Formats: sequence, structure tokens, C-alpha cells
Amino acid sequence: MKQPFLMAGLIGWPVAHSRSPAIHNYWLKHYGISGAYGLFPVTPGSLTNAINGLKALGLAGCNVTLPHKVEAMKLMDYVDPVAKKMGAINTIVHTLDGALHGFNHDGNGYIQSLRDANALWRADTGPVTLLGAGGAARAVVLSLLNEGAQEIRLVNRTKDKALVLAEEMGPKVVVVDWNDRHDALDQAVLLINTTSLGMQGKEVLELNLSKLPERALVSDAIYIPLETELLKAARLRGHTTVNGLGMLLNQARFGFNAWFGVSPEITPELHQAVLATF
Ligand code: ATR
Repeated sequence: MKQPFLMAGLIGWPVAHSRSPAIHNYWLKHYGISGAYGLFPVTPGSLTNAINGLKALGLAGCNVTLPHKVEAMKLMDYVDPVAKKMGAINTIVHTLDGALHGFNHDGNGYIQSLRDANALWRADTGPVTLLGAGGAARAVVLSLLNEGAQEIRLVNRTKDKALVLAEEMGPKVVVVDWNDRHDALDQAVLLINTTSLGMQGKEVLELNLSKLPERALVSDAIYIPLETELLKAARLRGHTTVNGLGMLLNQARFGFNAWFGVSPEITPELHQAVLATF
């Protein structure tokens, strides 16, 4: 029987910068699967139509990015419990019975990206300092707690947002003032930036790393540029650094498997194919 042509893509606004097509289309070709992954620029007012269109057009599913991650969750027939707790979805699976299932694999993808950098990495070896309190921060905090993190110092410009997140996540999450972020690095074993500071076209993150212990892992959820000023400064101090590409690649594995029926591998060739787009 001839293999059906399967389609998936990314719903967001804007989406042109995304490297997800490079990842999924590489895997489709590599595994000889008949299908395509495209970009769908969907304006904020058009999300419901887009989701209904996804159903009507028979797409296998899609990824969801800013600003639709929260609203899209409300349009699902079923939401995975982890995604529900995160309050947002990043992957939609259109099942054979016509239902839409929403998932969030940002957190798992993030944890796996740390393990890819250090196979022995554990969440319970010391304090974690996390910058930001948006959607990405929520996913990462939840996953770190699930992995056994004992203390997460949450630092956000708008303190109230950090307080709301901390209240929801429990006593292991403590809020630190944005102005005290430099001191919040003391004794930390992991530093994570989930703010948009350092992203191409945005302001740089001003952070004095002098209190950060040498063995701390430093990660940035940003992948454009691949090495933010934060990661560069950390690398020059001798820290192991992890950029946001690992998170993107690892979360992509789940969607690909669900839509196209193959559990794909992250290989040096895939890295090369994605890096060639920068
Ligand atoms: P995401 O879903 O990727 O986390 P988001 O929800 O828009 O995106 O969150 C962006 C994060 O970057 C927030 O923590 C935001 O801080 P505020 O809550 O104070 O807005 C942070 N951020 C953006 N611009 C910033 C800036 N100039 N200085 C400090 N933090 C900034």
C-alpha cells in the first residue's frame, strides 16, 4: 500500500525564524517518510480558525509557539496532565479518530539537553538559579522539580510573576529580586536563562558571574544566536554551557514520533543540517 503523505508544522506569530522545519524535514528525508513540515504564521486573532483548519485539512498535528501556547491548550479535546500543569502546550497530535491531543515537551526537552551535555547530571546536587517567569520558565521549573531539585531561586524583572509561579510550584521555589540576581548565583550548580535577554535583536543580559561556582552548568533557552553573551562569558570562565538548540531538538523527537511513527535520533549530521541554517 502506498504510504500516505503526512503533514505537520509550526503555528506561531512570528514563525519565520524557526529551525523546526530544518529538523523535521531532515528526519523525514533521513527515514524515507513521505511528508512535510511547514511554517504557519497565524495571527493572534486567527488561532481558533487555524486549529479548526488543522482538523479539516487532516494534518497529522503541529507544534505551537508564541503567542499561542496558552490559548491553543483551551482548544484541545484532550490535554496531557504535564501540559495542564504547565498551563501551555507546544505539541498537538491529531489522532485517527479526529481528536486533538495537546502536550508540552519543552521541559523534558530541556532536561534531556542537560543530560546530553553531562550524562551524569542530576537535579538534586545543589541550588538552581533560574532567570525569567514566563512560559519557558514554568516548563523548566516543573521539570526540575520532577527531577528532584531541592531549591530553585526564581529571579524575574516583574517580581509578582515570579511570586505567582513560586506559589503554584511550592516551597522549593524561592523568589529573589531582579536586582539581587548576581548574588543569587552563590553556590548554584545550575544557572538557566529563560528570559528573552540575549536573543538576537534584544538587549543583552547583564549578569556578574563572579559568585557562580566553577562546576556550575550554565544554560540558555535561547538558540538565536547559538552562543549568547551569557554562554560566551560562562564558557570563558570554564563552565560547561548548554544552548537552547538542545531543548529544541529534544522536544522535537516526541512530535515527530507521534506524527510520523518513527522515534528519530539526534545525530551529528542533524546538528550539521540545522547549523547550516544559521
Ligand atoms: P517565554 O514563554 O519564552 O518564557 P515570555 O512569557 O514572554 O516568553 O517571558 C519572557 C521573559 O523574559 C519574562 O520573564 C520577562 O520578564 P517580565 O516577566 O518582567 O516581563 C523576561 N524579560 C523580557 N524582557 C526583559 C528585560 N528587558 N529585562 C528583564 N527581563 C525581561
